[in-house]
Amino acid sequence: NWSMGKFVDQEILRIRKLVGEKGQVLGAVSGGVDSTVAAKLMHQAIGDRFHAVLVNNGCMRLNECEQVHKTLSEHLGINLTVVDASKLFLDGLKGVTDPETKRKIIGGTFIDVFEAEALKIEKAAADSDKAGKIEFFLQGTLYPDVIESISFKGPSATIKTHHNVGGLPERMTEGQGLKLIEPLRELFKDEVRQLGRELGISHELVMRHPFPGPGIAIRILGEVTPERVEIARQADHIFISMIREAGIYDDISQAFAGLDSNRAVGVMGDKRVYGYMIILRAVCSTDFMTADAYPFTNEFRKAVATKIINCVDGVTRCLFDETTKPPGTIELE
Ligand code: XMP
Repeated sequence: NWSMGKFVDQEILRIRKLVGEKGQVLGAVSGGVDSTVAAKLMHQAIGDRFHAVLVNNGCMRLNECEQVHKTLSEHLGINLTVVDASKLFLDGLKGVTDPETKRKIIGGTFIDVFEAEALKIEKAAADSDKAGKIEFFLQGTLYPDVIESISFKGPSATIKTHHNVGGLPERMTEGQGLKLIEPLRELFKDEVRQLGRELGISHELVMRHPFPGPGIAIRILGEVTPERVEIARQADHIFISMIREAGIYDDISQAFAGLDSNRAVGVMGDKRVYGYMIILRAVCSTDFMTADAYPFTNEFRKAVATKIINCVDGVTRCLFDETTKPPGTIELE
């Protein structure tokens, strides 16, 4: 009979056997549940021979990099390198408004940055005689991702280009000869959460809403500028904090604040302001293939709208997105 405890023991043994006594493993982390659980498992199996890399793409949530660093490095003891490439990403996104182009730019930049970091880590590893070459790449693929990528190979192809921090293209895996390790590939999301608990990861992290690889960029309709990212980021922080305070975070599958490409007039003090419009979206979903809008109370809606407009400079409107998926998607782009 199967238990999560046994799974952990078996998986650790399997990883150790696969990687060998000196082998090293590289992996990208985002601070999300899947990559954190995979990284913790890997750390448990081979300690500092697992190298985690977090790339700051300039489109992360408020204080996210600091928080991920704290959790992974300080609390979980994982060997983590944080690369701040915000400027590179934001420069690349200048003037771009098309959703797919945004995704491609972010995905491509991510690979460039990650590859450069991998080379540095590889070189440092080669210079020390304690460990061997980096031969493996950790990927936090779940069972539903396996299914989805199989079905996406058909002629209908991708609906959206998915950029997942855990996933790297063949250029790194086949091109550089890195072999994949996917310890979560037989698990569903709820099992990954259970595994996370088994590994001692906090409730808060284990229950964290998913966050897309391209981050806030695909929640900003129109051009992604540092100013617009900052507005969406501040509004998102207020929205999520109020959801937590109301005790409904775990009832919602995913929530965020995005930014409309249009602006609208409002009156702030005694002046007319041509300000930004925030779009608030919160959904409930079991598999993220279909989703329903979360039924906030009117009181909560008003309180959030008021707080965002009062606290985030330049915002004059808050709109709630009640669209189901399908026909909508969860993200705005
Ligand atoms: P959509 O918007 O397609 O989102 O309904 C479904 C789920 O996938 C997440 N998502 C992504 N995750 N890279 C990711 O790692 C991406 O490019 C990406 N696009 C969407 C989204 O947040 C939701 O949980």
